[in-house]
Amino acid sequence: MEQTILTPATEQTAPKRVMLSGIKPSGDLTLGSYLGAIKNWKERSEQFDCYYFMADLHAITVRQNPADLRRRTLEQLAQYIACGLDPDKNTLFIQSHVPQHAELGWVLNCYAMFGELSRMTQFKDKSKKNADNINGGLFTYPCLMAADILLYQPDFVPVGEDQKQHVELARNIVQRFNGVYGEVFKMPEPYIPKVGARVMDLGNPESKMSKSDEAGNGVVYLMDKPEDIARKFKRAVTDSDVERCVRFDPETKPGVANLMSIYAACTGKDFAAVEAEFEGKGYGAFKPAVADAVIETLRPIREEAARILKDKAYLQTVYRQGAEKAGRIASRTLRKVYKKVGFVER
Ligand code: TYM
Repeated sequence: MEQTILTPATEQTAPKRVMLSGIKPSGDLTLGSYLGAIKNWKERSEQFDCYYFMADLHAITVRQNPADLRRRTLEQLAQYIACGLDPDKNTLFIQSHVPQHAELGWVLNCYAMFGELSRMTQFKDKSKKNADNINGGLFTYPCLMAADILLYQPDFVPVGEDQKQHVELARNIVQRFNGVYGEVFKMPEPYIPKVGARVMDLGNPESKMSKSDEAGNGVVYLMDKPEDIARKFKRAVTDSDVERCVRFDPETKPGVANLMSIYAACTGKDFAAVEAEFEGKGYGAFKPAVADAVIETLRPIREEAARILKDKAYLQTVYRQGAEKAGRIASRTLRKVYKKVGFVER
């Protein structure tokens, strides 16, 4: 999908536009989460009023080890900050600390149709992967995600390609709800990066790089050490092209196209420049160059996250302040919704 054009904030005096997104702490953050989502978030914090959260309510749609979930939620917060999300400029919070998410989620369950929820590709994929635990939460997941979004009335929701369908469903809910009750919710736009929107597994370029995969070698984690990143890229699948030509062709050369996307996203170069740079050099020169670009992109994040993670008191201050601010905005929207649907005021 074409990236929505975000013009610089021309009207400095107008209220800032709002951006919101979240990530499930269901696994360690990957290069995919970074290039598809977080990288786009930090580039906008001056221009927008930004809300970013750890989607722990969403994480339990798949069984989690409680201690791991707790640890990863805090690690994720440290990583958000290390990626450049300044807590003074962005509202960073833990989803379960703002109960309005679950409350609005229930209401929106009643405004989403069984048919449309059944068509969600993530529900189908996750049902296949967790055949022994196809729970109700997995099915109604997009209603909770719609609540996450609509509570804050955002203009843009920066996500990777795989979440576009869920944002579209939130848009359907807005249309349906506003159609009955008037302009309650603002219509959110998905904001999807031009490169990095779908980072694929290095060992299997047909499938998305995913934090919940046990795979290991095809998944690059934000906290991976340089030698691990180098090893993973060395083993990355390319193709059997005898000329070993670095050319962007996702149909016939999905492995190389994935590496080119990663390289382009990390260096800011476009595909033509990447092709020119490696013309006649083959995969032997290309793969280590991609590894180096990723190592240098992630190095400062890893070092800073490790430092921040040691300061538990600081993290607690950040997530408490974040929940307080988020809760104020969220309760305003929820109050309006409750009134519209006919609940008696407390
Ligand atoms: P999640 O936790 O699966 O992924 C977090 C974000 O990272 C993006 N992403 C990728 N982008 C490119 N390539 C990849 N391989 C890759 N893997 C992940 C995802 O698109 C996403 O933007 N349901 C959401 C979390 C959520 C949310 C929300 C997002 C809950 N409520 C409200 C936005 C707004 C999810 O499971 O993302």
